Amino acid sequence: MRRILAWTGFALAAGAQAQEGDAARGRALLEKRDAANCVLCHAIPGVGGVAGTLGPSLAGVGGRFDAAQLRERVADPSRIDPRVAMPAYFRREGLERVAPQYRGATVLSAQELADVVAYLSTLK
Ligand code: HEC
Repeated sequence: MRRILAWTGFALAAGAQAQEGDAARGRALLEKRDAANCVLCHAIPGVGGVAGTLGPSLAGVGGRFDAAQLRERVADPSRIDPRVAMPAYFRREGLERVAPQYRGATVLSAQELADVVAYLSTLK
């Protein structure tokens, strides 16, 4: 029994760790255009430079959505709307027609996704 409890505790801790994002790192990642390049389509408060307008401004997005909802929207927006013009940043399925080194790889790592979500959560 104790062993099961210890194992469950470990699993929970590991899960929580993967969710822990750093807003400063997230902002830095958003500013690096070669990485996520969200500014190609979104104006993002606190992230400088010219921004595209294909997507809505992300001002106030942290007030409209909680962290789980933000995560879902960045990880795989097609789950919310299959016709969405935004790429999935954390999805492995459906990536067969890519160069071998990218097969099964996500655009953002789990940590980067958590960092981006942490920054978006500050935009209230
Ligand atoms: C190719 C253009 C494009 C790129 C690149 C892009 N998005 Fe989007 N995004 C969109 C569009 C279009 C929508 C609107 C979807 C809808 O409402 O159906 C959207 C919606 C969103 C929303 C929901 C906003 C709301 O108010 O409903 C969030 C959050 C978001 N994007 C975050 C991001 C982040 C973070 C990145 C980078 C990791 C990113 N997007 C990259 C086009 C893009």
